[in-house]
Amino acid sequence: MSTPSSTGDAEIIAARDRVELLRAEILRHNHLYHVLDTPEISDPEYDDLFRELKRLETDFPELVAADSPTQTVGAPPGRTFAVVEHRLRMLSLGNAFNADELRAWNQRAADLLDREEWTFVSEPKIDGLAIALVYERGRLVQAATRGDGRAGEDVTANLRAIDAVPNELSGSPPPLFEVRGEIFMPKVGFDAMNAEIAAENDRRREEGRAALTLYANPRNAAAGSVRQKDASVTATRPLSIGIYQLGWCDDAATPDTHWETLGWLSEFGLPTTPEAAHHADIDDALAACERWTQRRDSQAFEMDGVVVKVDDLGLQADLGIVGREPRWAVAWKFPPQEASTVVEQILVNVGRTGSINPYARLRPVRVGGVQVTNATLHNLDDIRRKDIREGDTVVIRRAGEVIPQVVRPVLERRAEDSVEWKMPDTCPACDAETVRNTDDAMHYCSNRSCPAIVQRALEHFAGRGAMDIRGLGEKMIRLLLHEGVIRDAADIYSIPKRLEELARVPGLGQVKKRKGEDHYEVGDRLRNLAAAIERSKSRGLAYLLVGLGIRHVGGENASLLADEFGSLNVILLAPAEDLAAVDGVGPIIAESIVDWALDGENWSLVHRLQAAGVEDEIQRSEEEPAETPLEGLRFVLTGRFAAMTRPQAEAQLKSLGAAVGSSVSKNTSALFAGEAAGSKRTKAESLGLPIWDEDRLIVALDDPATLLTWLTEAEPSDVN
Ligand code: IVH
Repeated sequence: MSTPSSTGDAEIIAARDRVELLRAEILRHNHLYHVLDTPEISDPEYDDLFRELKRLETDFPELVAADSPTQTVGAPPGRTFAVVEHRLRMLSLGNAFNADELRAWNQRAADLLDREEWTFVSEPKIDGLAIALVYERGRLVQAATRGDGRAGEDVTANLRAIDAVPNELSGSPPPLFEVRGEIFMPKVGFDAMNAEIAAENDRRREEGRAALTLYANPRNAAAGSVRQKDASVTATRPLSIGIYQLGWCDDAATPDTHWETLGWLSEFGLPTTPEAAHHADIDDALAACERWTQRRDSQAFEMDGVVVKVDDLGLQADLGIVGREPRWAVAWKFPPQEASTVVEQILVNVGRTGSINPYARLRPVRVGGVQVTNATLHNLDDIRRKDIREGDTVVIRRAGEVIPQVVRPVLERRAEDSVEWKMPDTCPACDAETVRNTDDAMHYCSNRSCPAIVQRALEHFAGRGAMDIRGLGEKMIRLLLHEGVIRDAADIYSIPKRLEELARVPGLGQVKKRKGEDHYEVGDRLRNLAAAIERSKSRGLAYLLVGLGIRHVGGENASLLADEFGSLNVILLAPAEDLAAVDGVGPIIAESIVDWALDGENWSLVHRLQAAGVEDEIQRSEEEPAETPLEGLRFVLTGRFAAMTRPQAEAQLKSLGAAVGSSVSKNTSALFAGEAAGSKRTKAESLGLPIWDEDRLIVALDDPATLLTWLTEAEPSDVN
């Protein structure tokens, strides 16, 4: 239960109640609107609720909560799911493919911590979809997908419809906390569901209707089921969940170890990862990984490895995060799985950069639980080296997420009349000549306006990893190119200004019959597209940089470059040495950017994007919320502060990514002690934690970097 904060007067209690009611109502209406597409109230009525909540949060800043609808990015109209910003980033994991790599991971941790021994927990790495669940007063109030780690999709209604996910907790859970886990579809359920789809397809074929696509594997099936527009469809899917982590927790004491946390969470009825185990040392953890490798298929669900975690949460906090991966956990990956099948044909497609990419069309075969029909063949040299021909029986291998590879032909089974495969002399999309690039041994289409290249480049620009323009997918791009509406990425930004005209293009506008005549109206489809295009203008520098499609420039290095240089022009004009000097960028990426920027046509594209108002510089406001410099740290505040209330200070610390706890433990990074601090101070002293006063608190909130330096300098119970 939430308790009145330190002020405790009647006014704030009334305000808190109202705020809670408004939040619940707004969340409900968000779902009705964004997820179920069945709004109950009009937009102005919704706006009134929202304004009232905002006003209360302005008047009573101590009531602001990171998960309030006012703090999460509202889903723009036309998108199925609202956006939820994660209070704590959702991370991915580094891999260990063998015993040496697992030990090396452990050794790095030992070097960093300057100690040798600690315990571990191993858990199956469930191959599903990561979900963050927020429970408030024991009720599921929000569920979100991982998304890009910082923000995901609001799938609350869908998760509520899954029986395995408790909507109400039992026992005495903390008032407000978030857990993370994997939604998955057990193998049996997956097979049954695909069998049903296949039966439906038989009926459809008889009736001459289009067939439904079968799900390729249980992970896709789980993800597809969670991302259903209609939660009642999700409800029919055989889904399960394994909770593997406590995300954050407000106002409650939490266990000191991960192992205890799993037990603690299960007391509230949360289904934690099955078959988790505790290990006294790394040898024991390794033995568990090796046992799992032998019985990887023994589980009712698809596993893609084992996660090994440092058990002590204090040590986890000390180890922290590097890039998108915690140093305190690692994924033990199973060795790749192999199978043999027949290469029915070798085909090529044209990539975004114009590369002609050969691939093998295979006789369908199951490898590692997945139906495989295609495998990459990289380039002509690779095909020659491995000597792969059409009609060959081949061994294929699937490792983790990657596209299956053709390993080798089974020569004993090669037909006598088989012939070497030849790279086509002309591009399959435009018939222009193909040329071989000696640098990367790839063949390229020689026509830079090849329709396939333009199509792919636009798909990339509008894609989720870049400008994220919903409604501008493969088919829409094909239509717009075909109709001559756009020729390149900059033309996209002319669309919102030409809606009336575009409404007449078949497939874009809405046709209404009036007095027997056709009338063209703009309609939702175009309007939503225009809104998505407008929104993409403020997507930010890093995504724009990815969208330009410069070879080797991906999400990670684009963010690094954006942070370092702050503006597109500066990046494109920077000498290669300066670009390469950015940690994580390096000379290949740097050269590629310089080459790209040497091309006048590319500059003309950039100028036209800039003229259209696409944001090409880091915005101050963008920098701040994205930065959570105190992530992974945990503070406790005690006593009275003069310049601000405790909830205000707590809210600010949380907005910087820190966790704020109510009790001091060895996982506490430091205690901020105001006037008249009592037992918490004594406890912190006994644990040897840093104890800081209000002056330090004010400095830290203003400049979190300074706080980080204090932590590295802190002597035990260093009273300041
Ligand atoms: S712990 C790094 N434990 O694997 C954050 N993850 O590759 C802590 N996963 O995004 C993750 N089973 O979706 C953890 N028992 C398990 C897991 C697990 C599956 C997924 C999870 C995560 C991904 C990272």
